[in-house]
Amino acid sequence: MEKRKQDLLGLKELSAAQIENILSHAAEMKKLIKSGTKKIPNLQGKTEINLFYENSTRTRMSFELAAKYMSANSANITASGSSVQKGETLLDTARTLDMMQTDIIAVRHSMSGAPALIAKNVNASVINAGDGMNEHPTQALLDMLTIQEKKGHIDGLKVAIVGDIEHSRVVRSNIYGLTKLGAEVTVGGPSTLMPPFMEKLGVKAFRSVHEAIVDADVVMGLRIQLERQESGLFPSMREYFRFFGIDDLKLKSAKPDVIVMHPGPVNRGVELSTSVIDGDRSVINEQVTSGVAVRMAVMDMLVNNGGFDK
Ligand code: CP
Repeated sequence: MEKRKQDLLGLKELSAAQIENILSHAAEMKKLIKSGTKKIPNLQGKTEINLFYENSTRTRMSFELAAKYMSANSANITASGSSVQKGETLLDTARTLDMMQTDIIAVRHSMSGAPALIAKNVNASVINAGDGMNEHPTQALLDMLTIQEKKGHIDGLKVAIVGDIEHSRVVRSNIYGLTKLGAEVTVGGPSTLMPPFMEKLGVKAFRSVHEAIVDADVVMGLRIQLERQESGLFPSMREYFRFFGIDDLKLKSAKPDVIVMHPGPVNRGVELSTSVIDGDRSVINEQVTSGVAVRMAVMDMLVNNGGFDK
């Protein structure tokens, strides 16, 4: 019997071994692209479509480049330029793309669960490229690949994630992935942006940056969305930076060899100071390269390996 197609909807449902398999394959892909090899045959004759209902620079472009580096046909569709504007439903749009004999659909949507819904209704492998406040699995995988490269391991590290914890899909995927691989995760942010019961996810929550990042090996800032300020969840960007923005002074609480991460796009002078973003401890640019490698690995494994088991 033919094996059912596989999807990547979140890290919640992956095992530690499956995550390690993806990271190991992504590390090989990263070596290839950094050596200048940007054409391998792994997805020759396959088609990948990016179906994005929200804006994106990094995720969308890295899916497209990753597909092209592996010789696939790749195309993009955004809600604003499509028949969604004429009232076509999410599922009708997805089924239409599927009937074009698409092999992979990467979906970003403001609604949590949209990629899972599509996955149940199409033949193509679906990859969650960020759904509402739920998950952004390839972002967390690229974060973990970057940490593993810079620190040599993930097990036993302290990773502090600071910012809008409540609304972040990046934090949820990172918590699932990092804790499965043995990291200690702390989260810090204003009370209004901190959901209750974080302990149930296996992490410690703090309302002060110092407490969250003390002795951290990795500090990750999260993007603050302007609309959160407009809805009264914090008073002003300036005040946010004063108490929660990561600058050189606050970083003194972390380990001397701390690395600083951010999924992007960064609001300079809000989540991180410019000197931290552009400083020696920042690995933000490395994260971007890891993003292409991780998406290559995920698509290759879905299409050619039937999933993430070795
Ligand atoms: N990190 C991230 O998802 O960035 P984009 O919104 O630019 O894709």
